Amino acid sequence: MTTDRLMALDLLVSVLTAAAWVSAGVAAAARRPRAAGALFAVALVASLARVWSVLALAGAGWWFVQEKITVVLPLLVAAGAAATALAGPRLLRAARRADAASRDAVRAPAVVVPLLGAGYAAAAGIVQTFLIGYPADPGTALLLLAVAAGAVLGTWRAMSTRVPGLRTATAATAAAAVLGATLAFVPSAETTAEGSAPGGTAAMAATGSASHDHSASGGSASVMGGATRPVTDLRGPAVPPPGGAVRRFELTARTATVTLSSGRKVSAWTFNGQVPGPPLTAVQGDLVEVRLRNADITSGVTLHWHGYDVPSGEDGVPGLTQEAVPPGGEFVYRFVAAQVGTYWYHTHEVSDLGVRMGLYGTLVVTPKGTAATGLDLTLPVHTLGGATVTGDRDQPLVRQAAPGTPVRLRLINTDNTPHRFTLEGTPYRLVAVDGTDLNGPGTLGRVGLRLAAGGRYDLAFTMPPGPAVLRIDDRTDSVRLVPASGPPGDGAGAKGASATADAGAVPAAGSRTADWPELDLTRYGAPAPTPYTARSRFDRDFTLVLDRGFALTNGRPMYAHTVNGAAFPDIPTEVVREGDLVRLTVVNRGRETHPWHLHGHRVLVLSRDGRPVTGSPLWLDTFDVRPGEVWEVAFRAANPGLWMNHCHNLSHADLGMMLHLAYEGVTTPFHGAHSG
Ligand code: C2O
Ligand code: CU
Repeated sequence: MTTDRLMALDLLVSVLTAAAWVSAGVAAAARRPRAAGALFAVALVASLARVWSVLALAGAGWWFVQEKITVVLPLLVAAGAAATALAGPRLLRAARRADAASRDAVRAPAVVVPLLGAGYAAAAGIVQTFLIGYPADPGTALLLLAVAAGAVLGTWRAMSTRVPGLRTATAATAAAAVLGATLAFVPSAETTAEGSAPGGTAAMAATGSASHDHSASGGSASVMGGATRPVTDLRGPAVPPPGGAVRRFELTARTATVTLSSGRKVSAWTFNGQVPGPPLTAVQGDLVEVRLRNADITSGVTLHWHGYDVPSGEDGVPGLTQEAVPPGGEFVYRFVAAQVGTYWYHTHEVSDLGVRMGLYGTLVVTPKGTAATGLDLTLPVHTLGGATVTGDRDQPLVRQAAPGTPVRLRLINTDNTPHRFTLEGTPYRLVAVDGTDLNGPGTLGRVGLRLAAGGRYDLAFTMPPGPAVLRIDDRTDSVRLVPASGPPGDGAGAKGASATADAGAVPAAGSRTADWPELDLTRYGAPAPTPYTARSRFDRDFTLVLDRGFALTNGRPMYAHTVNGAAFPDIPTEVVREGDLVRLTVVNRGRETHPWHLHGHRVLVLSRDGRPVTGSPLWLDTFDVRPGEVWEVAFRAANPGLWMNHCHNLSHADLGMMLHLAYEGVTTPFHGAHSG
C-alpha cells in the first residue's frame, strides 16, 4: 500500500475509533446495554486497527510517524485499556442479561465516563495529527492531554454530584493546560527579539535566525565583514548583449470586462484590456524591456517572470524587490532573454486574487537563428469566471494544419491546482518541461500528463493525416487540429487565420482518456550528465515540511498552510552564499498537493520518495509535492538576490506557505507586509 493510502486509512481508522468509543459511552448512558456492548467491541477492534495502521506507517518510512508513536498511541492505548478494565466487565455482564437492573447498571458513571474518556483520547489524537501538525512539541501534547482530562472530569461531574478529588484533579488539569499553552504558543525569545531592532535586520539576513524583514537602513550595514548590496542594485542591463535586439512592451493593468469566445462576459483584471495579457516573445539574446503601468488596480500590481531567472531587482516581488505599482504608477523591467523556452508572467501583488482575476500572460523565447516553421501554439490554461479558458477561448480552439506539419504545443498551467492533459490522434513527445529541453524524450501515446500549477510542458509532433485532440482533465476539448490540404510546413494558419473547421471530423469527446495512466516524469527520457548529483557535497541543506496547522499569519492566528510548523512571515529565511550548492528537501505532511516554486533558480530533481530520477535530468521551477511525498532537489546559488520560495497554489501562499531565500549581504529597502 502506498504511504498516501496508508495515511488515508489511518485517518479513517482514527475517526472510527473515536466515534465507536463515544457512541459506546452514549449508548450506555441511554441505558442500552446491548448496543453499548456491541459498540464497545467495535471500539476495541478499531483501536487495535489504529495501532496496526500507525505501525504500518512507521514501517513505510512515513516521516511523521514519531508524534503518533510518542503521543497519539500511548494516549489511545492508556485510555482504551482503562475503559476496558473499568467498564468492560460490567458492560458485558449487563449486555448478557439486558434486564431493567442491568439497564440501570450501565448508565453508572463508572461505565459511561471511561468509555467517553477513551473517545476523548482518540479524538485528541486526531486533533494532534490534523490541527496542530508538525513539529509535535511537548507543549501541545500536554495541552491536548489536559483538554482530554478536562472533558473526562466535566463528563463525570455532569453525571454525578460526588466526584472524589474533583478539586485537585481540576486544578492539576488547569495547570497542565496553562503550562502546555505557554510552551506551545508563547514565542521563544529568539523569535521575539527579531524585527524590532533596527539595524539588526542585515545581520539577520546573514544568520538566518529570523524571518522576513531584510530591510536594512541603506547599504551601510555590514554582513560578516563583507559588503552589502541592496536588491535594487541587482537590475538588468540597459542595452542588449552584442547581436541582440531590444524587445519593448507596454503592459497596463486595468479592470475590464472581457468577452470569451462563447460570448460570455467576465469582469476581470487585465493587462491591456485582455486575458491573458499580450503574449511576450523574444529571441535568445534579446533585451526584454517591459513598461508596466497600473491604471486602476487599487491593490497594486507587479510583474513576476515565472521560471525566468532574471536579476533579483527585476523579479517583481512587492515588499522585497520593489514596491507594488499603485494606480497611476509605473515600473520598467529589463532583462536579457538568456533562457529559451516557455514561461509566463503574472502579478505578484495579492497574487492569489490578481492571477485568478486575469493578471497573467505568456513569455516565449526562441533560439537564435531558427526560422519558425510549422504550427507553434502557446496555450495558457486558466479558470476564469468558472470556465476553463485555453488562451483566450472557453471553447475548443480549432486549427487546420496540413499533414506533415511540425506542431509544437506549449501548455502553461496558470491555475492553482494541477491539470491533466491528454493528446489523442497522434504519437508525440514531451520535449520540454518548465522551459528546459528533456534529454531523449521517447514517443508517447495513451498517457495522461499531469502539469503542476505554474508549470509548463512543450509537446511536439508531426501533424497526422487525421485529427488530433488535446483534452484537459479528461473532459474539456482544448485544441482540435484538423488536417488541411496544402503543402506541409506552411504553418497552416499559424498566424491569425483562425480556421474554424468542421468539428464533426474530430474523435468524439469522452473517449476513455481518464483510464490512461499518468506519465512518470522521473522515468521519462534518457539520463545525461548533470553538473551535480545526489552524491555531490552540498554547502547547504534545507528541509521544508509542508502541512496545515494553527499558526500566526501576518500576525493573525489562522488555520494556516505551514512550513516547518510556521507561516509567513515567521518561517526562517534560507540563507545562502553565492556559489553554494544547495539541497532542498520538501516533504508534504498534509493532505493537499503543494506545487513548490523557487524564484530565480531552476532546480535539479535528485529524487522523489527516495527513488532517484532514472530518465532525463529534470530541471524544474515548480514541482508538485503530493500528499506524503518527499522531493529532494538541488540548485547552485548563482543568482544573488532575495527570492521567494513558496507554494504556487497561491491561496496556500496567501495562508502562510511562503518564505524567503536570501543571499548573504543582499538587503532590501522595502518592507511590505506581504510578498505575495
Ligand atoms: Cu509564479 Cu512567486 O510565483
Ligand atoms: Cu500548497
